[in-house]
Amino acid sequence: MPKIVTLPGDGIGPEVTAAAVAVLREVAPDVTIEEHLIGGIAYDTHGDPFPQVTRDALKDADAVLLGTVGGAQDSAWNLLPRHLRPESGLLALRKALGCYANLRPVRVQPGLEHLSPLKAELARGVDILIVRELLGGVYFDGDRKIDGDTAYNTMRYTTPEVERVARVAFWAAEQRKGRVTSVDKANVLEVSELWRRDVTALRDREYRGIHLNHEYVDSVAMLIVSDPSRYDVIVTENLFGDILSDLAAVIPGSLGLMPSASLGDGAGLFEPIHGSAPDIAGKGVANPAAAIMSAGMLLRHGLKRPEGANQIDRAVALALREHPTRDLGGKADTQTFTRAVLSALETSPAVG
Ligand code: NAD
Ligand code: IPM
Ligand code: MN
Repeated sequence: MPKIVTLPGDGIGPEVTAAAVAVLREVAPDVTIEEHLIGGIAYDTHGDPFPQVTRDALKDADAVLLGTVGGAQDSAWNLLPRHLRPESGLLALRKALGCYANLRPVRVQPGLEHLSPLKAELARGVDILIVRELLGGVYFDGDRKIDGDTAYNTMRYTTPEVERVARVAFWAAEQRKGRVTSVDKANVLEVSELWRRDVTALRDREYRGIHLNHEYVDSVAMLIVSDPSRYDVIVTENLFGDILSDLAAVIPGSLGLMPSASLGDGAGLFEPIHGSAPDIAGKGVANPAAAIMSAGMLLRHGLKRPEGANQIDRAVALALREHPTRDLGGKADTQTFTRAVLSALETSPAVG
């Protein structure tokens, strides 16, 4: 029996994770689900945003489903030493699981173009996969300091780090339209020069069937929302991928429609890309679609059950048509939307 660890976390995390778990129980009733603490709530309970009891629970987990971590801008958590803050717990979790490739799909399902603020003809058919490097760059480099009036972080990548994430992007492109856009800032940064060199060399050595091009991150920030159909797979470093994926959420219409899968050495980590949304937390109005679709990605990539994942995607699309949530201009609250997904699952056969 597969074991899934859920880490609801802070803010709207518990609300959207409860929805995802309800859907998971329906589609995969045989899995064991064990809940643990991460983030601010874990700090408040154990004095550690990624406590040992949570670490221990991961040892025999087949996949991890995370909600969100973090507090509002004025939260007391933000005054803690950095290693004790909620976000550090999440970063430590990613590191512990060895999840170096973060897959962030951006899709506009047929019939849901009206949810996008973009013109329908721009939104129609958009299907981009952002592959964000997740364990390197400025996020993890130890060469960092705040020292009086001076502070620095270091962006550093090695060839093995670049190659392993590029491999995931090429592998994904092979199953899609066969196109990879590598995004960097090679006109300014040495790190990007190495990134570009290594991605190109890998394509030339092992993925000659893939069409690879390179674009600068500033230009991509404009093109991804003005001409999203030009992209199939995007691969980029950690910080660029973080920013571009929130920007790309504009295309389907909300951060609440952006799931993710983080893959690497061991058990995968599945989480919506949005944060803890302190402005709406506790109100029961968060859009749980990203968390529910992350559970779908867990079935697809973590448990190798693509039929369950397809079932979830279809049910979410149906629910979005009938009961859009408030972030999408609709009226449905979290529970109403979740019930709509559950009833769509009942009427949707488990095929394809
Ligand atoms: P955020 O993603 O939490 O919220 C940005 C805006 O999007 C807010 O207006 C919020 O209400 C809205 N939003 C986000 N998800 C939504 C959903 N599912 N349904 C409806 N509306 C939604 O970003 P922020 O405000 O910059 O960050 C808040 C906290 O979350 C910070 O502490 C930050 O560090 C943390 N954070 C955590 C994660 C994570 O756990 N993976 C990701 C991003 C931010
Ligand atoms: C995300 C978040 C995290 C990140 C933060 C909370 C550490 O923004 O998952 O996109 O920057 O990776
Ligand atoms: Mn982010």
